[in-house]
Amino acid sequence: MKKIIALAGMALLLNSCYNDKYTKLYPASTTSVTCDTATVSFSSTIQPIFNSYCTSCHSASGVAAGYGDYTSYTKSLTSQASSGNMVNDIIITNTGDIHHMPQSQPSLSACDIEKITAWVNQGAQNN
Ligand code: HEC
Repeated sequence: MKKIIALAGMALLLNSCYNDKYTKLYPASTTSVTCDTATVSFSSTIQPIFNSYCTSCHSASGVAAGYGDYTSYTKSLTSQASSGNMVNDIIITNTGDIHHMPQSQPSLSACDIEKITAWVNQGAQNN
């Protein structure tokens, strides 16, 4: 019985040491991912995302030319934002779905999705 208590005590001690080190090594400020959706603008936040993940197909000469030109603030782009199609398609998680965007590629990061959604909700402005 004494042995068991001693072992339990040691386990608790080790456990607390481990936790102390963990919080020193990984303070909350460096591990928590912050996504700034408060200051989104088309030119500095949204267009760069489109340039990285969409314009390879969504441009005048791309395979998705008929489905929106994402190379600048175009009419086709804003109508897909306001119809809900844009947000609907980027939140589809099944990468094999024909409507998943970017098509046949991994989903955008959660933060990029939040930023686009925030920009759409703020009226998809040319700001
Ligand atoms: C690999 C090529 C490719 C990439 C990259 C791509 N798309 Fe598409 N996109 C397509 C194709 C092809 C269609 C037409 C799909 C269909 O038949 O409905 C389409 C359709 C869409 C539509 C629906 C248009 C409509 O009105 O029906 C939206 C919205 C869209 N894409 C948004 C995006 C966004 C946002 C990105 C970047 C995050 C993106 N796409 C990246 C190929 C692509």
